Amino acid sequence: MIGAGYVGLVQAVGLASLGHQVVVGEADADRVRKLSSGHVPFEEPGVSDLLERGLRDGCLRFTTDNREAVSGAEVVFIALPTPEADDGRADLSIVDAVVAEIGSSLEPEVVLVFKSTVPVGTTDRVQQEFDAVGATVRVASNPEFLAEGTALDDFLNPSRIVIGARSMATVEMLTSVYEGIEAPHVVTDPVSAEMVKYSSNAYLATRVTFANAIANLCEAVGADVEDVLLGMGHDGRIGHHFMRPGPGFGGSCFPKDTKALTMIARAAGYPFSLLEGVIEVNQAQHRVVVDKVRSAVGGVLQGKRVAVLGLTYKAGTADLRGSPSLEVIRLLQEEGADVAAFDPAVAEAVPGITTVFTALDAVRDADVMVITTDWDEFRHLDMRAVRAAMSGTAVVDGRNLLEPATVRAAGLHYQGIGR
Ligand code: UGA
Repeated sequence: MIGAGYVGLVQAVGLASLGHQVVVGEADADRVRKLSSGHVPFEEPGVSDLLERGLRDGCLRFTTDNREAVSGAEVVFIALPTPEADDGRADLSIVDAVVAEIGSSLEPEVVLVFKSTVPVGTTDRVQQEFDAVGATVRVASNPEFLAEGTALDDFLNPSRIVIGARSMATVEMLTSVYEGIEAPHVVTDPVSAEMVKYSSNAYLATRVTFANAIANLCEAVGADVEDVLLGMGHDGRIGHHFMRPGPGFGGSCFPKDTKALTMIARAAGYPFSLLEGVIEVNQAQHRVVVDKVRSAVGGVLQGKRVAVLGLTYKAGTADLRGSPSLEVIRLLQEEGADVAAFDPAVAEAVPGITTVFTALDAVRDADVMVITTDWDEFRHLDMRAVRAAMSGTAVVDGRNLLEPATVRAAGLHYQGIGR
């Protein structure tokens, strides 16, 4: 396994638990030291236990030397970051540099697998590069679908295993790696496998955005989006999942992958205007929340105290990457608001943001309280205590977590998204 980030580490401990010998190459020496002593650098249920077990049983180890990691390996997974470049494309420089680094250390007939999300065509391109120098490496695509907070469960009980390869021998090798895991296998060519990954994230991001757009429309026509989504979701063709309105989707994947797919589409001569619209509507959704906060305090944010509940991009993770909450805070501060924020998973300081240790600390003397992350504990806030601590009475529930009647009964003014 090359890369001990989110994807690589979960995959590594998961593969070790299936009985494989796993050696992980990771450039960050500090991370290698921590992992080697059983310390997981992020919160993810179950990963720590499997890490300990793998280390104890001797089937998992970490090294800063990628060449050493791949030496003797039958299968090499690449789980390296593919960050967003300035132009929105996925930046492949880390992946390309590591493939060049390990190239000469790979065993004959090794299966080199892209686990990270790579632009459509990358697997075949790398295969051609190996072919050109006469190497016998077989390159495949095996995209990852794990979500933060449920990552290990997503590995052990995946909705599907997608294998993109150009030979049956490669497919058989990868199938044997996942023996013991029950899931439908989708076997296809590498280009299609790469497309499965982007299309899945693009579709999910579109669903969330569709729900947000319907929420905004519900508000304009006087409907309640929660009832509307309930009414829609009972149609088995639609379903209830992944349609919760909010401040827009975020995280380290959806924003990056949707943008990258629009770039891939343009380069291929098919401008993906539907997805471009999704990205635009999603960015506007951050402003929808800010507009509500502004109007809740009388039209001017300058000098107003705003309590923001939630910093992470979703509940169940400490990850702040691409968080809509941070964008909402930035926009509030830009208009002169004085923000105090609380998040149950974020204990350390966040640059440019005043963070406090409890929700009640955040709302103390606030003119308005705004919820930006769907943490369950915010559902159970004591609204009377909130009312007593605040100086104002406005609540903007950016995730529709609260019961409007309960909020109002405490003497507060409630505003949700589309209700
Ligand atoms: C997402 C996908 O769900 C995974 O399948 C995929 O493997 C992963 O990206 C990836 O490409 O690595 P993740 O970024 O962890 O996983 O988060 P999600 O649970 O998908 O949520 C993404 C964003 O959408 C969050 O900001 C969340 O709050 C928002 N969301 C989600 C909503 O606003 N409403 C919903 O109903 C669902």
